[in-house]
Amino acid sequence: MVSTILLAVGLVAGWAAYSYVSGLRRNVLAARKTGLPYVVYAVHPHSFPWQLTFWIWLPLIKLLPKAWWEKPMIVLQPDWAYNTKLEYFDWVGSETFILAGPDDMTLFTANPDIVTQISLRREAFPKDIARYAVLTMFGQNVVSTEGAVWRMHRKITSSSFNEKNAAHAFVEAIGQATGMLQYFWSGTTEDKTSTKTIKSLEHDTMMWALYIIGRVGFGLRLLWPGQKAPDDPKLAKYGALDPPPGYTMTFAESLGGLLNRIIAVLLIPNVILKHLPFRFAREAATAKENYYKYMKEFLHDKIEQVRRGDREQEGMDIMGQLVRSTYEEKEDKLNAPKLTDDEIISNAFIMTLAGHETTASMLHFTLIELANSPASQRRLQQDVDTLFGKSDPFTWEYEKCVSPLLASHLGACINETMRKMPPVTAIPKIVSPMSDQTIIYEGRRVVLPAGLSINIVAPALHSNPRWWPTKPSERTGRPTDLDEWIPDRWYRATTKVSGSSDVTEDDEDYGGFQGSDTSASLYRPVRGSFVPFSDGPRSCLGRRIAVVELVAALGVVFQKFSIELAVDEWATDEEVEGMSAEERRALYAKAQEKSRATLGKVSSILTLKFNGNGLFVPVRLVKRGSERFVGD
Ligand code: HEM
Ligand SMILES: *[C@@H]1O[C@H](CO)[C@@H](O)[C@H](O)[C@H]1NC(C)=O
Repeated sequence: MVSTILLAVGLVAGWAAYSYVSGLRRNVLAARKTGLPYVVYAVHPHSFPWQLTFWIWLPLIKLLPKAWWEKPMIVLQPDWAYNTKLEYFDWVGSETFILAGPDDMTLFTANPDIVTQISLRREAFPKDIARYAVLTMFGQNVVSTEGAVWRMHRKITSSSFNEKNAAHAFVEAIGQATGMLQYFWSGTTEDKTSTKTIKSLEHDTMMWALYIIGRVGFGLRLLWPGQKAPDDPKLAKYGALDPPPGYTMTFAESLGGLLNRIIAVLLIPNVILKHLPFRFAREAATAKENYYKYMKEFLHDKIEQVRRGDREQEGMDIMGQLVRSTYEEKEDKLNAPKLTDDEIISNAFIMTLAGHETTASMLHFTLIELANSPASQRRLQQDVDTLFGKSDPFTWEYEKCVSPLLASHLGACINETMRKMPPVTAIPKIVSPMSDQTIIYEGRRVVLPAGLSINIVAPALHSNPRWWPTKPSERTGRPTDLDEWIPDRWYRATTKVSGSSDVTEDDEDYGGFQGSDTSASLYRPVRGSFVPFSDGPRSCLGRRIAVVELVAALGVVFQKFSIELAVDEWATDEEVEGMSAEERRALYAKAQEKSRATLGKVSSILTLKFNGNGLFVPVRLVKRGSERFVGD
């Protein structure tokens, strides 16, 4: 008996050892065959066992002499790309390399030329959709699919993303930024020159983005505390501050609740979630239930609307458009592919997910960086004044001001935030499982094996002095200033960088914004070196509306206000009052140092943000002219 068990254990162990060694050997040989530089790891950082247990091993490894692990261990740590940028690539000595482990191998690249080839050749390098399976909880959608099915989803969803709707998003972003400011302003200091300290902008910028999506995605008007409900009964119903009959949450609460606990909701089925003994789990389940119910009701309403032939649509309404594409009975559409009801709901949800947190973080981080850099803030305000003077933001006309806005310091600030803190830090692709693929790397042909995983590493691409205008840092003395947030970088002369290979782009229209948002005098990154929205056919559908929303919000905020880091931790208002300019500068320097350190601690769960962890940067909104800290 005992010997049988021993034999079985021995066999299993032997088999495990064999498959470990042979897997590692196979992957190392395959990596070597490509001719690219490669590194070999006893465990692949993306493997499930490592993902689950790395927090046990990392501290143990760190007990060994530092020289053994310092560099090799970089790639095993979560968020290494954001935290160490090019350091690991420098250590390997290449902008592209393969990491081979026993169960998996991955090509990591921070080379613009390779990135361009991969992102433009969609069929040769499809998206790694196995990783997106969790996004299908309501059904298939434009993010979770590939091939012909993706084409259909993309075709139907992309028709919402046109300039007319970008203009709607612009107006809505102005409205919601105004609501956010009023909300901030409801708590002012005694002398009414500034708001009380706002502990964190994270939640409010999330609400800002969510409320915009509520409007452009579903045609709903959601309200900030203190705002009055509109007269329209439908808008009032869903935007109300109390749940309508039949629901236990308002629409905004259900959507916010779902998005805030998205990982739990995506990974754990609702039947289980509901019965877990944690409050967050029950709240997540309730949010999901309410949300799905709302979605079904919206869907039903919109179908009725289409059937009545009622096109009262003012504004952008992604969900309404998806319904029309499916339910409108037009001669020429009879044979067109159609989405199922669940696919409509799923696409509407995925737009919310893709467009909410990303855009919110970009506004949040840009506001903090502007508070860190008073000089940039002054320059931005000059541009806002030149563009808009004291005019009411509700009179700003999209067609007239969008291009000047994008080419102003506002555009530069947004670009610089996306460069330094791209919300999506790693873009996963694979080599088509159907066949090996050839790419050109530094003049050589490189054959990549079918099925190989690929990881496009945005933060490393975004901080490579080979591709970006840089100077020695004035603040830190380092040889480059690419770790710092310096929007002026976007006005530096474009250095001619020697050529990208000739990838022929197919000329099919995949929707999304095609035009240029550049004015000739600005810095134009080498193609493939700046990929906050990815590139090629699978690049971000919402790119145009995201940047349009962001510049609109910055315009509204800085026309009347400045943002300053709060210094309560070090001094009271009275103490600041009595300080000399020099003392104030020294005080602000402390706040800047802390704020920059905090931004260094963001992490990536879906997208880059504070993700709880007790991180926040307190600020105050100050009337222009009443700033307490004006130095650098
Ligand atoms: C600053 C804000 C945003 C950033 C940085 C961003 C970034 C990205 C990136 C990197 C991808 C490619 C992901 C991948 O290949 O795995 C993507 C795809 C996508 N984004 Fe965005 N996004 C933003 C805002 C938005 C908004 C506002 C919407 C819609 C309302 C949106 C809708 C989408 C969709 C639908 C896709 C999938 C496209 C496809 O696969 O065909 N995004 N986005
Ligand atoms: C922002 O980046 C884009 C490249 O993606 C560029 O075309 C545009 O000119 C930049 N804007 C500014 C203000 O530099």
